Amino acid sequence: MPVKSNSDTLITVYGGDGFLGRHVVRALARADYRIRVAVRRPELAGHLQPLGRVGQIHAVQANVRNAASVDAAARGADVLINLVGILFERGRQRFEAVHTMGAEQVAVAAQVHGARLVHVSAIGADENSPSAYARSKARAETLVLAAAPGAVVMRPSILFGPEDDFFNRFAAMARLFPALPLIGGGTTRFQPVFVGDAAAAIAAAVEGNARGGTVYELGGPEVRTFKELMQFVLKTIERKRLLLPLPFFAAKMQASLLQFLPKPPLTPDQVELLRTDNVVSEAAERAGRTLRGLGIEPEPMEAIVPSYLWRFRKTGQFRTQPMA
Ligand SMILES: NC(=O)c1ccc[n+]([C@@H]2O[C@H](COP(=O)([O-])OP(=O)(O)OC[C@H]3O[C@@H](n4cnc5c(N)ncnc54)[C@H](OP(=O)(O)O)[C@@H]3O)[C@@H](O)[C@H]2O)c1
Repeated sequence: MPVKSNSDTLITVYGGDGFLGRHVVRALARADYRIRVAVRRPELAGHLQPLGRVGQIHAVQANVRNAASVDAAARGADVLINLVGILFERGRQRFEAVHTMGAEQVAVAAQVHGARLVHVSAIGADENSPSAYARSKARAETLVLAAAPGAVVMRPSILFGPEDDFFNRFAAMARLFPALPLIGGGTTRFQPVFVGDAAAAIAAAVEGNARGGTVYELGGPEVRTFKELMQFVLKTIERKRLLLPLPFFAAKMQASLLQFLPKPPLTPDQVELLRTDNVVSEAAERAGRTLRGLGIEPEPMEAIVPSYLWRFRKTGQFRTQPMA
């Protein structure tokens, strides 16, 4: 069979209008692929068009809770990428329905249509986790690999980049409040990874440079505690704030109220997630199931984060001049 050129290869990206999705679409567009972005509201995905040539990126309607729409979006595609995820539950958007059953629907569609599959999970995915988010991600991995054994699974640590939800959120809090909370004392370890590197890893899997049936763990070059990350945010935005240790039980009490906000800054389930380190495992390092194993040298956060957190400084992009 003749090998298809990239411009003849159609890739469906479920959740392609999200934070990671935009970077994945950009990476695939640069590599000349045809991209079908499968989203709940295609009329709001217009911002993706300038990432490619005219006609290269096309949005269709799909909700992973609706099997028929998942299947329709997979028709004729050579590769499916599933980036669908939620951080908190609302109405019918439950972790089990979106992460687990939704992921299985995408994997079934990949099998039915003979498409390859890249599934995005998360470091921390664990059937025995106290967090429903982490349990739903773990069950998804099992069901995805059962339905599509050749799938490549990518588990990122916390993603950073201009529109991230982590550094931007704490920088915004530091602008408003005199103190930042160190949930659980701030000792949980993270390995923040640049969203562009995670997108490059997914593009490498699309190119066929990742092992099928394998779970990759994507972390940046440094491991930092939550407290160190808060100190990094404060240094970057040139503000002094108290770092206030908040035991897990107190954070959970606060979160049980905050969870009712339209876009909750913290939920009890996220507090549970913070109890466990969010770093690349030794097993993944040893087996080369990492960014470096895919030939990607991860960007340090110091190289990227100041380029977008400057807006939280008192003087914005302008430097205060030392007095003569
Ligand atoms: N951001 C991180 O730090 C991080 C870390 C580890 C793993 N991950 C994983 O990486 C993936 C992408 O995350 P992200 O940060 O890009 O999240 P995001 O910006 O919230 O994007 C998630 C996408 O999923 C879509 N979606 C939600 N429910 C859906 C449904 N029922 N049917 C179809 N689409 C639906 C959203 O579309 P709507 O606009 O329609 O809601 C959005 O496009 C997720 O699987 C996430 O769990 C992220």
